[in-house]
Amino acid sequence: MQTSDNARRELESLIEFYTESGVDCFIGEEAVDSFVLSEELLRQQQAMRSAAQSGAFSPPSSKGPADLGRPVASASFERPQPLAQGAGAQRQNPLTAPVAGGSFADAVMPDKEAVASAREAAREAKSLDELKDCLLRFNGCNLRLTAKNLVFADGNPNARVMLIGEAPGRDEDLQGKPFVGRSGQLLDKMLGAIGLDRSSVYIANVVPWRPPGNRTPTPQETEICKPFIRRQIELAQPDVLVFLGAASAKSLLDVQDGIRRLRGRWMTFEAGERSIECLATYHPAYLLRNPIEKRLSWRDFLSLRQKISTLGQI
Ligand code: URA
Repeated sequence: MQTSDNARRELESLIEFYTESGVDCFIGEEAVDSFVLSEELLRQQQAMRSAAQSGAFSPPSSKGPADLGRPVASASFERPQPLAQGAGAQRQNPLTAPVAGGSFADAVMPDKEAVASAREAAREAKSLDELKDCLLRFNGCNLRLTAKNLVFADGNPNARVMLIGEAPGRDEDLQGKPFVGRSGQLLDKMLGAIGLDRSSVYIANVVPWRPPGNRTPTPQETEICKPFIRRQIELAQPDVLVFLGAASAKSLLDVQDGIRRLRGRWMTFEAGERSIECLATYHPAYLLRNPIEKRLSWRDFLSLRQKISTLGQI
């Protein structure tokens, strides 16, 4: 009895430790060595590409926006089919072929080709609804395997102000909406302070799926998602863009400067045929950890309000 109580307490404290460390999902019974997995995926990719070059693959049937009747692209837009047996197995998209390890069967290795096919698919979307649909079918980013929901956008798609964060957290993943957790509540207060709310702004993230345990998205994950957020900006056509935090500003402006240098200055973002005035500011999550910096954010928000007033009524 004593032993089972101890075991139970140990288990509870382990779970508590995991929860406090940000772990809230288990993705397999056994630990997966992602380095080995990556090497295995690369090896498969290369082997299947050479097979494709030597004529062993046929192009997939023309279905989705990514397909476009071209030969096999790196990122597919349909849920991968189960492994076909026999000769049919050769017809699989090389980058969605099952991998040893069960739950990672759908994993893909994003490479330059995958980014190019994501760019092409994003360009094909003619409306925000089409873009969302395209992302719902896109399996070129492994984050979708662990996320519960796609977190596409919130607010008013016709708003003149668009805010862009880094990636959803737990609450956003559960609700499928950006900035609904603690940092979202702070963001709402900051917007309210300059007379804005979710009906007068449009909000999205660079990466629309939650990274497990709220880790930072990898550079590959960010690269594969960038064509979609760029297209989302083009389609929403805001007059003003606000990058929330370093990750969002650096990835979309393609700069290396830190947020301290970037914040508070008006810059220009090239979105297709339009140039959009943009401003970087601290991420609300950073402000929750460093409340002293709210002073500078307040200046940025005042500058945003000033900019909006020069543009006329929202
Ligand atoms: N942080 C982000 O960058 N985006 C969200 O949607 C929530 C928290």
